[in-house]
This record gives sequence, structure tokens and C-alpha cells, in this order.
Amino acid sequence: MAQYDVIVIGSGPGGYVAAIRCAQLGLKTACVEGRETLGGTCLNVGCIPSKALLHASHQLHEAEHNFAKMGLKGKAPSVDWKQMLSYKDDVIGQNTKGIEFLFKKNKIDWLKGWGSIPEAGKVKVGDDVHEAKNIIIASGSEASSLPGIKIDEKVVVTSTGALELPKIPKKMIVIGAGVIGLELGSVYSRLGTEVQVIEFLDTITPGMDGEVQKTFQRLLQKQGLKFTLGAAVQKVDASKSKAKVTYKLRKDDSEHDMDADVVLVATGRRPYTDGLGLDALGIEMSQRGQIKTDGHWQTNVKGIYAIGDCIDGPMLAHKAEDEGMACAEVIAGKAGHVNYGVIPGVIYTHPEVANVGQTEEQLKEAGRAYKVGKFSFMGNGRAKANFAADGFVKIIADKDTDRILGAHIIGPMAGDLIHEICVAMEFGASAEDLALTCHAHPTYSEAVREAALACGNGAIHM
Ligand code: NAI
Repeated sequence: MAQYDVIVIGSGPGGYVAAIRCAQLGLKTACVEGRETLGGTCLNVGCIPSKALLHASHQLHEAEHNFAKMGLKGKAPSVDWKQMLSYKDDVIGQNTKGIEFLFKKNKIDWLKGWGSIPEAGKVKVGDDVHEAKNIIIASGSEASSLPGIKIDEKVVVTSTGALELPKIPKKMIVIGAGVIGLELGSVYSRLGTEVQVIEFLDTITPGMDGEVQKTFQRLLQKQGLKFTLGAAVQKVDASKSKAKVTYKLRKDDSEHDMDADVVLVATGRRPYTDGLGLDALGIEMSQRGQIKTDGHWQTNVKGIYAIGDCIDGPMLAHKAEDEGMACAEVIAGKAGHVNYGVIPGVIYTHPEVANVGQTEEQLKEAGRAYKVGKFSFMGNGRAKANFAADGFVKIIADKDTDRILGAHIIGPMAGDLIHEICVAMEFGASAEDLALTCHAHPTYSEAVREAALACGNGAIHM
């Protein structure tokens, strides 16, 4: 029986990062993973493969729509779907092998198999029981479907099936206008699929800044995506090659049908804790199936911690990573810390959408006085040159102190631009601090500075 300071269960972005930090802090560490490869949902069937397909399909979109304008003549490339999938698999392989390398480098044992916790201080993998002074559960999440819908991962798919469809469908219905639905809907729309999104609420991307939602929907519609909002999906009837989606419009309760070759169910994810033995251990869970933890990621059972998608908070890889590092530090007797007020969210469509901190809607509800500085990418020279002038940067600052409270960007490289504002917020910066920082010209980042200027005496290029 092997003895460890820490055993991490799950090797997704939360788990593998926690394991590496534990090892770096001198703790003898193992990580349990039952998949063939390390990296969890994110690397194998989530963030990374979807970004590969978004990248490839965006290149096609550029070739079809913008090359000729720049004097790049010739036929737009045709799609070799098999090759595109193999490129995606290659990207996955490079990343998962990278983690294997990092495990070896940090002398972390990979315990292959599915783990359970027979009692505090012990982790069972297959027939072996290992001892661990501390256990970190990083078991992630799984797609949650709706009642009346049976997923077969062929015709009715989650994001996992959508990343390896045997052929590009003619028509796809996406249920849920959240992150997964819009990213994967964009991929197939660019590849020529007719994409119809059905969303329960009256807006896409619930919880996001209202102006961003409107602009985002308009731009996606311009790209060809169609939306049916305020519609509750009732059931999906599927055959071997077709599916019929039945939904009710919430405004008048009328029932409608729609057919497609493939239905993508993207209605959220739920914590995955099956088979860990948490019930028998008496670990407290929330009503939503999340493992309850204290301010230091410890469960109600001493020595058992939990991080990432299986606990409270946004289901985001980088939130899990931050918790993984902080939890490792707490276990090593240091002061682990996560600032939940500054966790960016990004949607990797084109244009990208990114946000951090509070929305105007939240501030209004809280009765807090704020001001807004907004700058359109139309006024950004670099964006114009790159056919990327759709969208804007919006910075929200405290009305009295000018301290930045949130930022919402839709536009080119929004997912990268947002981090300048995250750093500013971490340092408690004011909009003026950003506005007084010299930004290189010509860059997209100038739009961030202009939005900060717009919080004060005004933007220059508007
Ligand atoms: P989501 O929570 O973002 O969106 C689900 C959508 O489905 C909501 O708009 C909801 O109103 C709608 N919906 C629910 N029931 C419905 C019904 N009966 N009929 C029609 N619409 C219905 O969930 P999603 O997109 O599945 O993503 C899951 C998680 O994965 C999220 O937490 C997301 O943040 C994360 N993720 C993050 C990514 C990123 O950071 N770029 C990429 C992919 C996933």
C-alpha cells in the first residue's frame, strides 16, 4: 500500500494543477484518473478540442468572406472533415501528453483507474488501496440533459458527441443558447450547417451584460445562426438519422415541432461525483449536487477537500485551476487564496465575448451608483484593418471612487483583452489608472484604454 501526502482524484484543469502545485510544495503526490489520457473534460472533450474546431472553421470563414477584399484571390478552401477532426485529435494529444510530461517532471504518480474513498485517509483504485494524509476531489462535471431527451451521442448529442460527428450535418438544432451551444453552433454554421438555436429564456447567454447580449445575438444572426427564444423544449424524438424537437413558446403556450439531422443538447452541466462513496463518508452536498466546502476548500470531513466543477461557483477551467493551486497551498500550510470577484468568462466565438466583475443589471439591483465608459471597435484602426470592427469595450466604474467594478467586451481578441482589466481590478485600480497607462498603437488594447477614458473626460477617437 503506497502512502502519499496528497491524492488528487481527477486530472482535469483543477486536479492536475492541484497535483503539480502540491508536488512543487514538497508534498508526495498522486493523481487518480480513469480516462486513457490526462486532462479531464477540458483537454479531451471540451475547451481544447472545441477551440481547435473554432480556429479551423474561422479560417474558412475568413477565406470565404474577407480574403478577396484584401486582394487574396482564388477559390476558398473546401472542407476535409476527416482531416479537421484529426487535426483536433492531434491538438488534444499534444496537450494531454504535455500533462503526462509535467507529472513525470514533478514526480507525481498517475494512479490509473477510477478512484473511490472507502474512508478518510484512503483512496481505492481498482483493487489497490492507497493511503493519503489529504485527498482532493476534483471530479468535475457532466452534461445535464432534460427530461424527455435521451442522449445517444449520434443524433442527439452533448458537446462530446458534437466534437466527433461522422459528417457535417445539413441541419442542427442547438438546445440552449449558453456558452457550449453558441461555440459549437458557430463551428457548424461556419462549416455550412443550418443552425437553429432554441433557448428557454428571452435572451441568449443568461446573466451576461444586456447590451452585449443584444449585439452578440445580432452578430450571430448575421453569420446565419437562427434563434427561437422564450421556448421550452418538451421532448426530442430521434430515429437513426433524424430528430424532431418539440417545444412550447412561453408567451402563448403554443406547441411547435422542428426537424434536424443532429440535436445538440447544451442546457448546462452538473457536478460529477458518482462512485466516489461520498454518501457513506457523510460528506455534505448542496441541493444542486455540489460538494459543500468551507472557505479553504475542505469538506465537512477533515482531510478531504474538493475543488472545481464539483463545488459551488462558475464551471470554468480557470476557476478550477485557481482553486487547485490555492487548495494545495492551504494543505502545505500556506495562505491559499482565490478572488471570486475577478474571474473572467470568455466565449470563443467570432467575435469573442468576455466579461469580468459586475454587470450594470447587477449594480442597479444592488442600488449602487456607477458610471459607464464605452468604446466601439469602429474607432479602432487595427480592428478596421482586420475586418474586426464589430463590437465594443464597456468598463463600469464606481461613480464616486472611479474604482473599476466590471468590464464587458465583445470584439476581436476579447478573451485576451479582458485580462488587462482583471489585473487592474486585482490591484483595485480606477478607470483613470487604466486611462493614464500608455497603450501601444495600433492595437486592439487601445479600445480598452479608450473605454477607460470614456469613464472620465471622454474617449479620443469617438
Ligand atoms: P449554460 O448554463 O451556459 O447554458 C445553458 C442554456 O440552456 C441556458 O441559456 C438555459 O436557459 C438553456 N436551457 C435550459 N433548459 C432549456 C430548455 N428546456 N429549453 C431551451 N433552453 C434551455 O450551459 P452550457 O452552455 O451547457 O455550458 C455548461 C458549462 O460549461 C457552463 O458552466 C459553461 O460556463 C461551461 N463552459 C465554458 C466554456 C468557456 O468558458 N468558453 C466553454 C464551454 C462550456
